[in-house]
Amino acid sequence: MKRIFSGVQPTGNLHLGNYLGAIRNFVALQEDYEGIYCVVDMHAITIWQEPEELRRHTREVTAAYLAAGIDPKRSIIFNQSQVAAHAELAWIFNCVTRLGWLNRMTQFKDKAGKNRENASSGLYVYPNLMAADILAYKATHVPVGEDQKQHLELARDIAQKFNNDFKTEFFPIIEPLILGTATRVMSLRDGARKMSKSEPSDMSRINMTDEADQIAQKVRKAKSDMELLPGPGVLNEAGRVPEEAREARPEAFNLLGIYAALSNRALSDVLTEFEGQQFSSFKKELTDLAVEALGPMGAEMKRLMADPAQVDAVLKDGGERARAIAAPILEEVYDIVGFLRP
Ligand code: TYM
Repeated sequence: MKRIFSGVQPTGNLHLGNYLGAIRNFVALQEDYEGIYCVVDMHAITIWQEPEELRRHTREVTAAYLAAGIDPKRSIIFNQSQVAAHAELAWIFNCVTRLGWLNRMTQFKDKAGKNRENASSGLYVYPNLMAADILAYKATHVPVGEDQKQHLELARDIAQKFNNDFKTEFFPIIEPLILGTATRVMSLRDGARKMSKSEPSDMSRINMTDEADQIAQKVRKAKSDMELLPGPGVLNEAGRVPEEAREARPEAFNLLGIYAALSNRALSDVLTEFEGQQFSSFKKELTDLAVEALGPMGAEMKRLMADPAQVDAVLKDGGERARAIAAPILEEVYDIVGFLRP
């Protein structure tokens, strides 16, 4: 069976983008793949995290995985720091990756901001750790949202350079799986910005644990425009929104895309249904749909977070199973590199 690896950072404020772009796909894919789903706590500390908050958020991501429907018996759910192979393989990759490759990473530039001198060196080598996460299990497929594409291309380059340098076929070439109609969910306050955990305004995102009244308020206040909703005529032959149309009405297409994803319908269907309608009536329907989809899951997350022993037991079991896969792979890597293991 092919093996999948993916991860989510425990940095709080898990939102609809994380769900539609990633977690929901993890659930669907566990049918056909061996799934390894990680809570990447080592990635989280590339930016300062309060220790107590980090523990709470690690349990929150685990609770989201479980509440969304990942089966911890069938798939492996664990937090990254339990498996030393991630850090160990990342060191090897620090010595494979070229500085020029890291300098091209847009996420580093975004996250480091203007004060780049003050960013942690961990933030800079973050993509090497991400490649190690995947390749420590020789996973071949990686479901993610669109924003992770550049990191996965780098992971492919790292695997390829390692294989070339050591004249081996050891690491597989990774395939990103960017699936569904909501691979890039945008902020509710600004259709040109990604919905993000770190955006200061909570009104910019729908959180996985939001209550019905919070969802209703956020959708009602979501930025829109003055026109009526577009019809399916705007789509191109591939059934996609052309770039110019999206740029002209980013908020409208974001909300319509969220509706399509939550209702599991094609965007063309949704456009046909709402063509020519006002935002106000559409927003009511979107609220109902979001509450229906997220309500039970949010309640289950809260139940699980109130029972940390249950969550921790899942992580412990997953950690053991993950170590059993990664440890022998790392031994082979050390042998290929020429480390003596007396
Ligand atoms: P993170 O924690 O930022 O996000 C988790 C997942 O959610 C997706 N995502 C989105 N999808 C659609 N719309 C959005 N607005 C949106 N925001 C986030 C992300 O693409 C991601 O799939 N570097 C990764 C974590 C990671 C990882 C890995 C992923 C570490 N190691 C190995 C895959 C394989 C990250 O920061 O995700």
